[in-house]
Amino acid sequence: MNKNMSRREFVAAAGLFAGMMGLVGCGGSGSAATTAAASSAAADAGLGLVTDGKLTVGTSPDFPPFENLENDQYVGLDIDLAQALADKLGLELEMKTLQFDAIVPAVAAGGQVDLGISGITIDPDREEQVDFSDSYYIDDLAVVTMKANADITADTYADALNQAGVTIAVQSGTTGESYAQENFPNATTQPYGNATDAFAAMQAGQANAVITNKAVGAKMVSESYTDAQVIKEIATGEEYGVAVSKDNGALLDAVNGALAAITDDGTLDSIVNKYFG
Ligand code: ARG
Repeated sequence: MNKNMSRREFVAAAGLFAGMMGLVGCGGSGSAATTAAASSAAADAGLGLVTDGKLTVGTSPDFPPFENLENDQYVGLDIDLAQALADKLGLELEMKTLQFDAIVPAVAAGGQVDLGISGITIDPDREEQVDFSDSYYIDDLAVVTMKANADITADTYADALNQAGVTIAVQSGTTGESYAQENFPNATTQPYGNATDAFAAMQAGQANAVITNKAVGAKMVSESYTDAQVIKEIATGEEYGVAVSKDNGALLDAVNGALAAITDDGTLDSIVNKYFG
């Protein structure tokens, strides 16, 4: 070992060399293992990860079926996606809980998380702060009310919600929040740090409606808030992407490469089908 090289540098260089040999050896049609080894070496050598050998991913686990905690374990489509990306890159996955509105700033600031995967809609404001991968899921918004509430229906919601004295509960910093503010300016849009708190507030009579994403509204009313219902879907067609620091083009390329690979080999489809099949 070169005396001027730290052990870590040596390991990284050796890994890179092994990875290059793997690429040469596989002749363009390599096995998953070879590809993973090659990517892993590249990762250690140049992806600027928060922790070597690990993909550290920020998420707000209050958003089933994308991310949620079950018995203290992270579960959901985004968690499976994060694991599949980590596997492709030959990295260990570490999930980190952040409040949703802190994820994009944390990715932009660096040092805490490598990626944000949290049902994050690609939008122009966020694109000023971070880069996004190609999109992996398309969602809409939904208006959720208590079943006992006959005042707000699919036909009347546009007027019924846009009234002084009406409170719309949303998760802070989400597309649901901006939709409510823009479309129901006469109402009070009340942000909650946690998505589930918005539902709990409505259930407790502190809000007349919740605006969240369609997939999440459907899941919440079918499992946790069965006295609530989705009264209206709003076709926003918002695209979910993985947030990556603008300073880390190598990581963005690696994520897009891994995403393309799991799209081509059917992994992404089977993850989506697991939750929406
Ligand atoms: N898709 C919405 C947005 O990007 C909401 C995402 C909320 N995600 C969460 N894990 N709570 O604004």
